[in-house]
Amino acid sequence: MSTLEIRDLHVSVADKAILTGVNLTVRSGQTHAIMGPNGSGKSTLAYAIAGHPKYTVTGGEVLLDGEDLLSMSVDERARAGLFLAMQYPVEVPGVSVSNFLRSAVTAVRGEAPKLREFTKELKTGMDNLSIDAAFAQRNLNEGFSGGEKKRHEILQLELLKPKIAVLDETDSGLDVDALRVVSEGINRFRGSGDTGVLLITHYTRILRYVKPDFVHVFAGGRIVEEGGPELADRLEAEGYERYAKALA
Ligand SMILES: Nc1ncnc2c1ncn2[C@@H]1O[C@H](COP(=O)(O)OP(=O)(O)O)[C@@H](O)[C@H]1O
Ligand SMILES: [Mg+2]
Repeated sequence: MSTLEIRDLHVSVADKAILTGVNLTVRSGQTHAIMGPNGSGKSTLAYAIAGHPKYTVTGGEVLLDGEDLLSMSVDERARAGLFLAMQYPVEVPGVSVSNFLRSAVTAVRGEAPKLREFTKELKTGMDNLSIDAAFAQRNLNEGFSGGEKKRHEILQLELLKPKIAVLDETDSGLDVDALRVVSEGINRFRGSGDTGVLLITHYTRILRYVKPDFVHVFAGGRIVEEGGPELADRLEAEGYERYAKALA
């Protein structure tokens, strides 16, 4: 049983206040959707939790099972059980997908998996996501299509089995088939009940496949409305306009 607690989080980027007091608690077995218009600060929340150096926490706290996440290095956060899938992952020439995943698994588990076992694990994960075998030898993120990036994210989830997974715009740029494969991957992964998922999305589309337990609407750098899955249905019908009006 794990809990991610975000308490009154304030974050600035380049001296501009972006997050203005975010409160959110995610527990294992729960899926929370964060929805909101472009520029409302959704990715800023993900980056701040990840420990990206450009994002300065100016107030509040983030706790993982009671431990202060914000004082941890990025590696320590991963070892503590946090996983973040970024909207724009970086390319790493010279590092293969397979090498990257084995290093990541080693870092998180605290010991290197036996090569034969890892190879088997990797193959199972790739088969589950309909990823071609040759993909494992490609350079990390280099020339990945939108669908390949997202499948790679879900593959990482399956191998790393984090306590809390933060997925930023996992649905963007996916065609319907890829969206289904990725959604099935998320569902398989959260089916264990051991993991809490924070699913950040602008569109309601993915929420037809991955049913959230809670929906939070982001506007102006904080949560302005909360509800159950029915709130996502309303947003699909009405859009975000009324939140924009409320802020103006
Ligand atoms: N690295 C950055 N440098 C300058 N401004 C940024 C940076 N990242 C985000 N911002 C600003 O912060 C606000 C929120 O952006 P973001 O968190 O990406 O929103 P969302 O993910 O909801 O679209 C925007 O006004 C954006 O321009
Ligand atoms: Mg974003």
